[in-house]
Amino acid sequence: MLILGIETSCDDTGVAILRDNEVLCELLSSQIKFHADYGGVIPEMAARKHLENLLPLVNIALSESKISGRELDLIAVTRGPGLMGALMVGVQTARALSQVWGVPLIGINHLEGHIFAGCEGLKPPFLSLIVSGGHTEIITVRDFGDYELLGQTRDDAAGEAFDKGAKILGLKYPGGPEIEKLARSGNSKAFNFPVPLKNSGLVEFSFSGLKTALLWQVKKFASSEELQANMNDLCASYQAAIIEALIAKIRLAVKLTGIHQVSISGGVSANGALREALRREKGFTISLPELKRCTDNAVMTALAGQNRYLREGITNSEVIADPSLHEI
Ligand code: KG4
Ligand code: ZN
Repeated sequence: MLILGIETSCDDTGVAILRDNEVLCELLSSQIKFHADYGGVIPEMAARKHLENLLPLVNIALSESKISGRELDLIAVTRGPGLMGALMVGVQTARALSQVWGVPLIGINHLEGHIFAGCEGLKPPFLSLIVSGGHTEIITVRDFGDYELLGQTRDDAAGEAFDKGAKILGLKYPGGPEIEKLARSGNSKAFNFPVPLKNSGLVEFSFSGLKTALLWQVKKFASSEELQANMNDLCASYQAAIIEALIAKIRLAVKLTGIHQVSISGGVSANGALREALRREKGFTISLPELKRCTDNAVMTALAGQNRYLREGITNSEVIADPSLHEI
């Protein structure tokens, strides 16, 4: 089966062509450098960049895979959740290509895509932790297509905690990789940041209090020199609190469900310290995506689309972008 995957939910334009599970071509155009100066993604700019990049990437992917559009068996496109303008570029382009080439089109929930990014080789049931800039949630995958949301964040997502924390510290966007880099030469026990909801007994996350704790700590420093002198330790301690909160809730989810296979995906799953800590855990086995599949990409969309198509065929012929899509 030849599948074209298209992902444009946020600031990455992703295109991939798969033959069954084999990736023939995988392209990603990141917009980070355009948004970095603004400290976050500017929705209008994201949509415009997708518009510029998407069709050229589709053409390159087809020629690198040595196929024509009409040979495809399926197009899978992310239809939500995400930024409205960004999603619309992907969905409308996919609809047009589907019409022109006479190829079936399937709309995919971005979160189902993330589940497929992290679960290579896993057989359900397993738990899937999605940790990105917009989401922090644990989903029970009873089977592919049969998902239960076990718990999510009450406020900020873990990636948002990295990004907002970095802003407080005067670091670049996106904050996750910046904090990770500085944390490597810092002492994670230097500052005692609260681990949010650690003992609440609920599979729930909260990161806004942690961010405020960082802000108060920064305000205590008398000068920017003092802040700089403590920067690596602050990053290490702040990152450690986020990691501890994530792992505490995985342990709880494992205990509550009795499911001992866990997969993780989303931008934060690229964090080296988190990956090491997860590998050291004894109570469950962890499936980690390759680094390039942690952040948004179209391979995950194509894999989710293929799986759904083989399970249920085309159930909804009109694919519509939905920025607040809930049900997976
Ligand atoms: O999955 P993603 O690319 O986009 C969303 O769907 O949000 O995730 C982006 C998020 C950002 O908040 C970014 O700071 C975070 O993932 N991130 C990281 C790392 N790389 C990206 N967080 C911690 N450590 C990293 N190495
Ligand atoms: Zn994502």
